[in-house]
Amino acid sequence: DWTMASYKDEAIRKIREQVGNKRVICGLSGGVDSSVAAVLIHEAIGDQLTCVFVDHGLMRLNEADEVVSMFRDNFNIPLIHANESDLFLNALEGVSDPEVKRKTIGKLFIDVFQKYANEIEGAEFLAQGTLYPDVIESVSFSGGPSVTIKSHHNVGGLPEKMGLKLVEPLRELFKDEVRALGRELGLPEQFIGRHPFPGPGLAIRCPGEITREKLDILRKADAVYIDQIRKHGLYDEIWQAFVAILPVKTVGVMGDGRTYDYACALRAVTSVDGMTADYYPYSHEFLGETATRIINEVKGINRVTYDITSKPPGTIEWE
Ligand code: XMP
Repeated sequence: DWTMASYKDEAIRKIREQVGNKRVICGLSGGVDSSVAAVLIHEAIGDQLTCVFVDHGLMRLNEADEVVSMFRDNFNIPLIHANESDLFLNALEGVSDPEVKRKTIGKLFIDVFQKYANEIEGAEFLAQGTLYPDVIESVSFSGGPSVTIKSHHNVGGLPEKMGLKLVEPLRELFKDEVRALGRELGLPEQFIGRHPFPGPGLAIRCPGEITREKLDILRKADAVYIDQIRKHGLYDEIWQAFVAILPVKTVGVMGDGRTYDYACALRAVTSVDGMTADYYPYSHEFLGETATRIINEVKGINRVTYDITSKPPGTIEWE
């Protein structure tokens, strides 16, 4: 008779047994996996856990503050907010190649994480929200041909480099089970059902060069778009939805004046695992209303397009 409640109790017992009275560091991304891992471990060992949230300045509108306040204020989990957005954005200046963006962010991420983790005295363990599919994938691909289309955040090797042992309490779970465990642990529903968000964040939704100005515009447009999706009750039908700001300015008219502002693309897909995806069949009414709202509410955008590419041949992200 297997229930998530008994799974949770067993997981807590195992964490206590593995960790004893030692300290644990957990990197929080704001995603479901690392969040569930952190709350579970905190239930098991309390303040022996410290979380580190590396804020690369590429999060969505208000997202960093929401993550920090949820963990610090709601769950009382000790949390270091590593606000390093200047470091990341300066390093990304002038970079337009998607893989160079990923590598720049991935490398800095590790440096920053390590710097903050080193300040946590006596830590012996590093917690990760590794899921069962991650475990199989890394086994079946190891030694095989490189089939990487996009290099993802790779923190492999970090535990060894830092001399830390791993705590991976979600290693036996699939995504839907992690969500069930999250509910069992009292994480808010809105948080558990969140769309996936890539490690490099908005950097790969800003094709071409990243500027602070473009990121600001993108954040605002994305917030309006997601608000529209929620208002129309579509959020849970969609696997992932976001705005990409395009590296092109176009001419428009507004009132008596001519505008010359950025164009953006809306993206929304259905998918089971992110490996293949179909574009979401919005009504024209929804699209028209959303375009009007974005152009009226977001200074800096005067044209909205909808991306109707499926995967393959497209990818979900624009880079
Ligand atoms: P693509 O764009 O490859 O995306 O169809 C498939 C899924 O992976 C996410 N994605 C990433 N996640 N680091 C991540 O952590 C990355 O570099 C990265 N690139 C894509 C994407 O958001 C989608 O869910």
